[in-house]
Amino acid sequence: MTFTDSRTLVIGGSSGIGLATAVAAARAGAIVTIASRQAAKLDSALRELGPSGSAVQLDIRDAAAVENYFGECGEWDHVVVSASETKSGSIHGLSLGDARAAMESKFWGAYHVARACRIRPGGSLTLVSGVFSQRPNKEAVLQGAINAALEGLARGLALSLAPVRVNVVSPSVTRTPLWDKLDETHREIKYTEASMRFPAGRVGQPEDIAAAILYVAANPYSTGATILVDGGDALV
Ligand SMILES: NC(=O)c1ccc[n+]([C@@H]2O[C@H](COP(=O)([O-])OP(=O)(O)OC[C@H]3O[C@@H](n4cnc5c(N)ncnc54)[C@H](OP(=O)(O)O)[C@@H]3O)[C@@H](O)[C@H]2O)c1
Repeated sequence: MTFTDSRTLVIGGSSGIGLATAVAAARAGAIVTIASRQAAKLDSALRELGPSGSAVQLDIRDAAAVENYFGECGEWDHVVVSASETKSGSIHGLSLGDARAAMESKFWGAYHVARACRIRPGGSLTLVSGVFSQRPNKEAVLQGAINAALEGLARGLALSLAPVRVNVVSPSVTRTPLWDKLDETHREIKYTEASMRFPAGRVGQPEDIAAAILYVAANPYSTGATILVDGGDALV
């Protein structure tokens, strides 16, 4: 399977890993639609995507909105969900409200999409989790649980949505606007510390993760897989 002329939807495609995936898919010949909540971010991402791209405002936490959208947008070749907004913290540091909101965004958002989307046989649904599912972090306990839940969800979906293929790509620290929540100094300290610890000697670029997403989406023998693209973080 190639991306040429494929209808490819990237939810979370206005930023970071999603935007890099949308750009890479468009370069591979896909007709790409990006989706996220904020019009301004979508507009700016569309400028990077080029003339064949289109955008839709969608909040995947809203199950009814997701169902309505997929009810009218037709069948896709590839759907990617890299959308989420989550706060992290230790079990006592994160409020219950923020913990539930994180699950609502990253897990239930993906679940709503998986339930509503229509993908042609042999096409693909790809979710994005994160290395904390395999290498827990005491300051991000829930993140690990959400990522593990997504990976389990994808394995079940690979059975129940077959012959649609369902996979997960699991990154570790990657330079994206997700880290804009830290000031520049703390962000660079985080990247430097991670680079020194990771066997790969660097942190990820969004394009590294996008390449893995395109690989599992296009490979007709990949389904139910979780692919780590983590610089070796899970090993150390
Ligand atoms: N970057 C890392 O170091 C890293 C590491 C491990 C795992 N991950 C995971 O990788 C995924 C992508 O992260 P990223 O770094 O690319 O983040 P990012 O740059 O912050 O991008 C997140 C995207 O999701 C969209 N979004 C957020 N909530 C949404 C919602 N409810 N409905 C629709 N769209 C929504 C955002 O746009 P709007 O604001 O316009 O909605 C944006 O396009 C996330 O699940 C993240 O947890 C990232």
